[in-house]
Amino acid sequence: MTAPVRGPGSGKIMDSIKVVGGAELNGVIPISGAKNATLPLMIASLLTDETLTLTNVPRLRDVAQLTQILSNHGVDYSVNGKRNGQDELAGQTLNLTAREIVDTTAPYELVSKMRASFWVIGPLVARMHEARVSLPGGCAIGTRPVDFFIDGLAALGADIDIEAGYVVVRAPGGLKGARVEFPKVSVGATHTIMMAATLAEGETEIVNAAREPEVVDLAKCLKAMGAEIEGEGTSTIRIQGRQRLHGARHAVVPDRIETGTYAMAVAMTGGNVLLQGAQSDLLESALDTLRQAGVEITQSAEGIRVYRNGNGIQPVDVTTEPFPGFPTDLQAQFMALMTRAGGSSRITETIFENRFMHVQELARLGASIQVDGRTATVEGVSTLRGAPVMATDLRASVSLVIAGLAAEGETTVNRVYHLDRGFERLEDKLTRCGARIERITN
Ligand code: EPZ
Repeated sequence: MTAPVRGPGSGKIMDSIKVVGGAELNGVIPISGAKNATLPLMIASLLTDETLTLTNVPRLRDVAQLTQILSNHGVDYSVNGKRNGQDELAGQTLNLTAREIVDTTAPYELVSKMRASFWVIGPLVARMHEARVSLPGGCAIGTRPVDFFIDGLAALGADIDIEAGYVVVRAPGGLKGARVEFPKVSVGATHTIMMAATLAEGETEIVNAAREPEVVDLAKCLKAMGAEIEGEGTSTIRIQGRQRLHGARHAVVPDRIETGTYAMAVAMTGGNVLLQGAQSDLLESALDTLRQAGVEITQSAEGIRVYRNGNGIQPVDVTTEPFPGFPTDLQAQFMALMTRAGGSSRITETIFENRFMHVQELARLGASIQVDGRTATVEGVSTLRGAPVMATDLRASVSLVIAGLAAEGETTVNRVYHLDRGFERLEDKLTRCGARIERITN
């Protein structure tokens, strides 16, 4: 039986989140499986006609959306929630079976809703020798082109045409292993070429590969499916192609961005929180930055403990970089924290050209931020004051929640839709630690 993948609660577009600032955070926050690992792992199910079982899958809108997209290609799925006696907060188990690929087209209506769905292009052409995938289009954080994917698949021997907004890829005799060098580190292009190469003939070498933990997690899963991969987590990944892959069971890595987000929330409000299940090796750079800002952080077998007493927040400069550098997906949250620092900090965004939309909204709460090109200079202020705010992407939205937790009075974050794409039970997890936060359903 196919049960619907559970999305995040009521999450309607017009819902909002009301935060009353001033409460410290104390307690335990369980860290979910990583959204950005789950999405490519789900797409990997297209590589085999057997069942791929993923455990620790977060209940997120993007996950639910991707199951729809994969169904369109012929993937059957079923989901098991919590079982009797199991922790009510445990992740889902998702079974995905692409016994037969019924459609190699990924239409605009679906791809435009979630950029990562473009990545199906790799497994589809590898297994079916053809794919027709809509160009993803623009997005709120920058232009985000797909040239690395196209050049990479062409290097593996595919013929590629752009027809009426679709990338059409054909490899009648199958893909052939090759050297693929990316001009710039790309997480999505690394996922896609690595997946495609598992079913190509011969060896593929990916040079200047992304080293992100989500790439390592995907490689681990592909190996469990029978792929031969080495070098994941370094800049050079080698894949020996196989004729077929088989089913496997894989647990999704903990979400390092969710971990860093809650660590910054605790840094902002003060308090003492255990981020249960979190792994510090997935975000050393961000944790080091928080330590410099005056936060105490320790790793134990249970997770990461984050503690800040009454001491002030120190200003720290950061520049976003590919892993193992400071992640772009924590830049907005860190900027929220720096608005309360005792001095001036510079935050430089090098990954995406338009990822400062939160600046104007933070300013509505009383923050003092000047943007000059790719660098924002933040002058810490002693007080933020609550206001209605809105953001147009996931990480920007959560930065406003973090700011609201420390602002005087009430902050209403509109368009909760974005938060539901990537944060599982955000208000529930924060409420359990003493935050005054609730969802308003409009
Ligand atoms: C992934 O996006 C993440 N998404 C993003 O998280 C994250 O911000 C980003 O990696 C960087 O870490 C998922 O994992 C689902 P890229 P991705 O290709 O793969 C340029 C979130 O909030 N580029 O690594 O799309 C590109 O424009 C999201 O969870 C090309 O020029 O990012 C960017 O400047 C947002 N040509 C840079 O590379 C290409 O063909 C890195 O982007 C591909 C990318």
